Amino acid sequence: MKVLTVAGTRPQLVKVAPVSRELRKYVKEILVNTGQHYDYNMAGIFFDELHIPKPDYDLGIGSASHGKQTGEMLKKIEEVIFQEKPDAVLVYGDTNSTLAGALAASKLHIPLIHVEAGLRSYNKKMPEEINRVLTDHISNLLFAPTEKAVENLRKESIIENVFNVGDVMYDAFLYNSALAEKKYSLKKFDLESKKYLLATIHRAENTDSREHLLAIFKSFAELGDIVFLPLHPRTKHKLEEYGLTEIVQRADNIKIVEPVSYLEMLLLEKHAKAIVTDSGGVQKEAYFAKVPCLTLRTETEWVETVEVGCNRLVNPLEEDLAKVIQQFQPTDFSIPLYGDGKASEKIAKIIVNFLSENSHL
Ligand code: UD1
Ligand code: UDP
Repeated sequence: MKVLTVAGTRPQLVKVAPVSRELRKYVKEILVNTGQHYDYNMAGIFFDELHIPKPDYDLGIGSASHGKQTGEMLKKIEEVIFQEKPDAVLVYGDTNSTLAGALAASKLHIPLIHVEAGLRSYNKKMPEEINRVLTDHISNLLFAPTEKAVENLRKESIIENVFNVGDVMYDAFLYNSALAEKKYSLKKFDLESKKYLLATIHRAENTDSREHLLAIFKSFAELGDIVFLPLHPRTKHKLEEYGLTEIVQRADNIKIVEPVSYLEMLLLEKHAKAIVTDSGGVQKEAYFAKVPCLTLRTETEWVETVEVGCNRLVNPLEEDLAKVIQQFQPTDFSIPLYGDGKASEKIAKIIVNFLSENSHL
């Protein structure tokens, strides 16, 4: 049995690592790296640190507009499918790499497997929402991380071959948490445990408007705590484009660094006083690490963390972030929202069964 995995962004590499480890026990996996992320600290470091197998194909797509980036990927993934003739194509999450892999497989009638299916923000202005809805609707086997995701799919009449296995990012967190403490120390970043806020910002809805980005950084500058911010290249470029870099550099409490490795990030998350983010993955890791999370968005697809009171949505254009952080005191991180840490194992086994039963597809 041959499964062709398509991935190419930082969060996808975090997800590929645990699944690939399990999947390769049973099937031949062909790994296609689209190269949507290409800086060493956005991609290469994840292959190295998480021991992800060397890609069989490096498509080297890089950055471009949505249409060009997705189109180039689609063309090249199709070529790989023609060459490899896989029994299934496996995609993760909601990026342009996800959609390109999904379209390529679906049009060639290759069974499509989607990990992280059923998430919805119900905000169609987000490119991620379009990618995940379209991918779910053409998938043949769908792995939902939560019951809520299963329910979202049911509402769209996607019922067959849907499995709630838990979240593969929880598997990754459990596997790597102790390793992170062993390998790195906060001294490297000149930080002390629980005496800083960890922040990440990269979503288009926050970065693609000068007003929005300025409001976010102004609110960071007004916080009493150190704000430690591994900066996504998209945000770095936008700050430069909007002429905001100097304003940000003048704020003494904002410490900007290049994106960090996954193990470094886990360490930084675990010791943060609170996390301020617009990242999907980081919202969940805050919960896994039992650290309060403030999400700078008007909605989230990871609703459970908000529902249990450990994550709070904040609109930086309308709310005083400093006040919100001061007042926000979540305490109960004990509910297992994202499975039992064995999502990858379950996914691998279900894929094998599915392929054995559906070899005619
Ligand atoms: C993409 C995903 C988003 C995900 C994020 C994870 C889409 C539509 N968006 O957003 O869902 O949350 O990845 O991080 O797929 N850049 C570099 N070096 C890199 C990569 C990007 O400089 O290695 C810069 C380029 O200026 C590029 C910009 O970042 O134009 C945006 O990159 P892109 O991959 O298009 O989208 P992300 O914002 O990273
Ligand atoms: N991450 C990392 N280094 C960083 C920022 C994030 O390793 O400097 C990790 C983070 O721990 C999580 C994943 O990248 O596992 C989340 O990716 P990102 O925020 O880019 O994307 P999203 O989850 O929003 O799609």
